[in-house]
Amino acid sequence: MYPLRRNRRLRSTASIRALVRETTLSPNDFLVPLFVVEGKGVKEEIPSMPGYYRMSLDLLSEEAKELQAMGLLAVLLFVKVDDSLKDNAGKEALNPNGLMQRAVKTIKEATPELLVMTDVALDPYSQYGHDGIVEDGQILNDATNDVLAQMALSHAMAGADFVAPSDMMDGRVLRIRQALDEQGKEGTGIMSYSAKYASAFYGPFRDALDSAPGFGDKKTYQMDPANREEAIRETEMDIDEGADIVMVKPGLCYLDIVREIKNAVEVPVAVYQVSGEYAMLKAAAEKGWLEHDAVMLEQLTAIKRAGADIIATYFAREAVKLLS
Ligand code: PBG
Repeated sequence: MYPLRRNRRLRSTASIRALVRETTLSPNDFLVPLFVVEGKGVKEEIPSMPGYYRMSLDLLSEEAKELQAMGLLAVLLFVKVDDSLKDNAGKEALNPNGLMQRAVKTIKEATPELLVMTDVALDPYSQYGHDGIVEDGQILNDATNDVLAQMALSHAMAGADFVAPSDMMDGRVLRIRQALDEQGKEGTGIMSYSAKYASAFYGPFRDALDSAPGFGDKKTYQMDPANREEAIRETEMDIDEGADIVMVKPGLCYLDIVREIKNAVEVPVAVYQVSGEYAMLKAAAEKGWLEHDAVMLEQLTAIKRAGADIIATYFAREAVKLLS
């Protein structure tokens, strides 16, 4: 009679493992980050993100069609802005004919069903590389919110389905919701980066957009990696202010937070597996130290198991290829 319970029975063949599997990945899970630059025919690899590119608008429509054909449903847009257009007020961010606004239109024309989400934050437009307006070395909260609300509105006017504030100013979700509703954009959703940590994993992304902070760091607005309760508070506040989807970022080091938030809230939870996480696996695989595809799928499965309804990941394309 020993042992009475044999758990290995449910692991004994591929069929029984599949039958009782609790978590499965599908193309519906992923949100694909895309980096956009000015120019024609530009597809430049980001050195710290092997296999990931900045693309000009003409190639962006092809990319969108391909992603849609692969079964992917949504993209998250970021733009690399020329230095000459950067200032302290985010003026270019509001340009109705700016790169982001044109990128949204380009994708919506090429692939109307593909969901377009836009990053809303000042860092790619800031001469200081900060997510807000700077005064005497401080990041201004409420003045930044005025710009973020107008920025989100301008993305909505260009056709964005969701705007995604990634700045971590207090009260920005409410300001954005109000600005959208006042201008008849009540149908535009908000995916809020609710629990976004001041992480050292964003380095390669800042290379991609040339958006590293020119002075100091982002610790006065992004969260302290040591905190857990604060993440719940931030997330609940964003929901109260009108967020349709909330997000935890980065991914792997924060899966405890993902699970807690998933248990605490009743809106979809997104997780951003960030640039540094991508770079780590690429580097280890390049050295032959890790098996790339297996580790990638294990990580994505772990993120979903932790409670992610949506995973923003640079691996989306590769993962979907393997899944099909
Ligand atoms: C900008 C923004 C960042 C990321 C997404 N939006 C960088 C930052 O906050 O410095 C990071 C994404 C990644 O590392 O993949 N507000």
